[in-house]
Amino acid sequence: MTDRLDLAGRHIVLGLSGGVACYKAADFARELVKAGATVQVVMTEGSQQFITPVTMQALSGRPVYTSQWDTRPAANMAHIDLSREADAIVVAPASADFIAQLAQGRAGELLALLCLARPVDRCPLLVAPAMNREMWSHPATRRNVAQIVADGAHLLGPGHGDQACGEVGDGRMLEPAELRDDLIAFFQPKVLSGRHVLVTAGPTFEAIDPVRGITNLSSGKMGFAIARAAAEAGAQVTLVAGPVSLPTPRGVRRIDVLSALQMHDAVMPLAPHHDVFVATAAVADWRPAAASERKIKKDGSGQAPAFEMTENPDILAAVARLPEAERPYCVGFAAESHDVLDNARAKRLRKGVPLLVANHGPATFGRDDNTLLLVDADGVAEMPRADKLTLARALAGAIAQRLPRP
Ligand code: CTP
Repeated sequence: MTDRLDLAGRHIVLGLSGGVACYKAADFARELVKAGATVQVVMTEGSQQFITPVTMQALSGRPVYTSQWDTRPAANMAHIDLSREADAIVVAPASADFIAQLAQGRAGELLALLCLARPVDRCPLLVAPAMNREMWSHPATRRNVAQIVADGAHLLGPGHGDQACGEVGDGRMLEPAELRDDLIAFFQPKVLSGRHVLVTAGPTFEAIDPVRGITNLSSGKMGFAIARAAAEAGAQVTLVAGPVSLPTPRGVRRIDVLSALQMHDAVMPLAPHHDVFVATAAVADWRPAAASERKIKKDGSGQAPAFEMTENPDILAAVARLPEAERPYCVGFAAESHDVLDNARAKRLRKGVPLLVANHGPATFGRDDNTLLLVDADGVAEMPRADKLTLARALAGAIAQRLPRP
């Protein structure tokens, strides 16, 4: 794990309205604090039926506000003071009733009053709905949600799944880690907004027989970090992943493949519909010419079986060779074991790509951090050692700068 503090310096007002999902708000407050944010909790009366201010105070490290008549703020105006300091107000959980209050601009309780009194251009409002699926799909709620979005609120979720009432459907509040990641993404600069980004990641697996194969040590972490960073930067992201057990970054469309041929066949029809192609996958260069349909058994001779190998298609080079009108901006990766820069320069020209990102393979596979060299026609730039998501965000920025204007 990394100790990156993605919300360092951010001051978040976390509002709780009444709902069972208040139990998740406790964990969400912890996640925000762990990510470096300062958190000011504001609770409605209804929320206090589900969780106490004492719990929220302990987790946020600050006294909780529950009333507009609170005399603590200097000028006795909690509803003004609290939002002036905030980088965002996040209401999680937001009940159907609370969303109705927002839609109508009501101000009967401190939290609703605070949302109404916030400076809309400086203090964004993020709302994480939490309610029964029938309430979520009711025309009144649909209308209220559309209204608050039109008024500038950002929705976080809701998710789909089991509900506290025993039903299954849309309306459950996102999990604390999902809310945290959505909030982190919200604050990232939208340098790839409107762009479509295709990423390959992970190793490939080339079958020898039904139980064995050839693969490599790529963990997929760099590619998944790039997919996440591109999505955070506002892109629509498709991730073609070899066999890895990493979770899909939020908002990313994932296509799982096993072999280099499958990866090639997934990528080629998609590539012309994307603005950027980032090939981070450690594609196996060769595969057994014919995989055995049955498990290969020892034959008692003491001799190992001999395999004929055949070369896999070079996916990156194939995309880079597409006609200009169909060709995304191509970014290659090079994992080298020696002469990193010389090999990277040669590889960039050989693959015909404008940007090649080089790293030291054995020093990065499976690790959470890395150093990168960016090699393009203008020269070389180094990105110093950092965790892979930090590098991926910087790379998303470097790619955005190199793209032709839409
Ligand atoms: N790549 C690809 N398809 C392949 C092989 C590689 O798309 N069949 C892409 C990788 O995703 C990476 C870049 O090409 O972006 C370079 O991969 P690398 O394995 O370093 O290069 P190779 O072409 O395999 O060269 P070599 O093994 O000789 O270093």
